[in-house]
Amino acid sequence: MEQLQKLQQKIELGLSSLAVSDHPATLYEPITYFMRIGGKRIRPILTLLSAELFSNCDDTVLNQAMAIELFHNFSLIHDDIMDDAPLRRGVLTVHEKWGLSQGILSGDVLLVVAYQYLVKAQPKYLGRLMDVFNKMAVEVCEGQQLDMDFEKRNDVQIEEYINMIRLKTSVLLGCALQLGAIVSDASENDTKHIYNFGVQIGIAFQIQDDILDVYADAEKFGKRVGGDIHSNKKTFLYLKARERANQEQLSIFDHQLNNTNASEKVEIIRGLYDALQIRQLAINEMNKFYDLAMESLKSIEVPQENKALLIAVADYLISRDV
Ligand code: IPE
Ligand code: IPE
Ligand code: MG
Ligand code: MG
Ligand code: MG
Repeated sequence: MEQLQKLQQKIELGLSSLAVSDHPATLYEPITYFMRIGGKRIRPILTLLSAELFSNCDDTVLNQAMAIELFHNFSLIHDDIMDDAPLRRGVLTVHEKWGLSQGILSGDVLLVVAYQYLVKAQPKYLGRLMDVFNKMAVEVCEGQQLDMDFEKRNDVQIEEYINMIRLKTSVLLGCALQLGAIVSDASENDTKHIYNFGVQIGIAFQIQDDILDVYADAEKFGKRVGGDIHSNKKTFLYLKARERANQEQLSIFDHQLNNTNASEKVEIIRGLYDALQIRQLAINEMNKFYDLAMESLKSIEVPQENKALLIAVADYLISRDV
């Protein structure tokens, strides 16, 4: 959609003039690399759309949008280390290209730079901006730790999984929208509703991410297909499949946990998902959270027709193939 592309270009322009130093190059090169390899820029688009929804035409909200995208990129560089992921956005991950130390440190710098942009706001907003951003940042780390802990557990419940993805992924989308609402003087109630919209659509977004991890077209996807299966991630698909599996299928699951032949393991587990029709069940679950998100969006007290672009983004998030 043209309007969304315009917002994306605005963000790219902001990011292209990112104020980072260049010495030592070993620290800054990975940052420049990572910020230039693309990405959908969904979260900063949400910040801009939220500001627009609450009738804010002040361009300084781009700073908070950038803060969200920078934080997201910090979390991806570290996530790729934690997940031992070789590919991101179709190219090598930072730690794969430069090693662990540079991955850790360049990620750290991005986190600090995110804060530098966050606080480029009128002083009256700073307290709340910091409060919601800090809360989100800690929650993302909680979610990431749970995600790692779950790799080693075999008794994870779907409810725990939903809470884990709410933390690792969804609160960032919620926060993106919240920042836009705060600097636009939205009412307390509307700010809450738009945050809830973000969290619910974020849960749907992560379920789609889990589906793509198994079923994406490797050429387009830009990440290693089957990475979650390889790492014994407790995704919705995995948990639902185990819930529905018979004894024989359960023993195949158990057997595969320690299979070191990655492509064989992915093929066997995907075969089980197919036999158990897990993809459709995951889509149903995703749609459930999409519907909740639409309810939250409806509760916001601005004319319904002004919400069209947010709905377009939500629709994209659950139908995307990248
Ligand atoms: C990837 O996010 C991390 C998840 C929470 C699933 P995106 O799919 O938005 O990644 P980019 O920024 O577009 O590369
Ligand atoms: C991402 O979860 C969550 C964060 C980066 C905080 P994933 O590990 O599923 O994301 P991808 O698939 O690597 O993008
Ligand atoms: Mg990952
Ligand atoms: Mg991860
Ligand atoms: Mg994933």
